Amino acid sequence: MKDTMKVQAVVPAAGIGERFGPDTAKPFALLKGIPLIVYALKKLQESPEIPSIVIAGRKDRISDLEALCREHHLTKVSQIVAGGRTRRESVSKALDVLDKDTDCVLIHDAARPLLTGKMIREGIELCGKHKAVIVAVPVIPTIKYVDSGLTVVETPDRGRLWEAQTPQIFDKALIISAHKEVEDLQASDDAVLVERLGHAVKVLEGDYRNIKVTTPDDLKVAETFLETQEG
Ligand code: CTP
Ligand code: MG
Repeated sequence: MKDTMKVQAVVPAAGIGERFGPDTAKPFALLKGIPLIVYALKKLQESPEIPSIVIAGRKDRISDLEALCREHHLTKVSQIVAGGRTRRESVSKALDVLDKDTDCVLIHDAARPLLTGKMIREGIELCGKHKAVIVAVPVIPTIKYVDSGLTVVETPDRGRLWEAQTPQIFDKALIISAHKEVEDLQASDDAVLVERLGHAVKVLEGDYRNIKVTTPDDLKVAETFLETQEG
């Protein structure tokens, strides 16, 4: 192991934002007058642990993303690649262009404006030890496992259920082989691919405010949270 790990960030931003609606492309939707994606990028830009950022964007919006990075002085964004049809594909394409000497990859959704410097710092530190880390929060509601006929099959023990968020931080070689080797899985996060390889994934307790903006209502919630965010 080297004394210091080199960490690159990957930001998937190539979704179609179907649930957000057709009026604005989600990464460009305005939150307090600033495009949504800029919040996550700024936090990464301000993190001393992260020297460079790769974005996966929709092919027809790459030049808009470049303009946004210039305008907001996001100098750490080193590449913007064209994403794919699924989140998994988009992340995979970004992983393909990481620097050779990178040890560790921090993957964070463009749609989560409320990540904190603490999550980034502690996530990277834990990754040095465990190679695979997710930020997550304990689930609050009671969750039912239901069959296709809408009958409850079971009620999982709530004390053991956690909601996965991003950032998720991985050893580079591990996450690249997980993306390459695990087939036929519509993964909604990256950790599940590592789990399928049989590798342990460590949980770092995050923050309920680190929401993913999915619908326009979520923008309003994010706005409220941003007003009181610290760190
Ligand atoms: N994402 C991506 N490429 C895809 C699909 C999703 O890079 N083909 C990104 C999104 O841009 C987002 C993150 O993955 O930053 C989480 O996805 P989600 O919140 O589901 O966004 P969308 O897929 O755009 O929204 P929807 O599922 O409503 O279409
Ligand atoms: Mg989606």
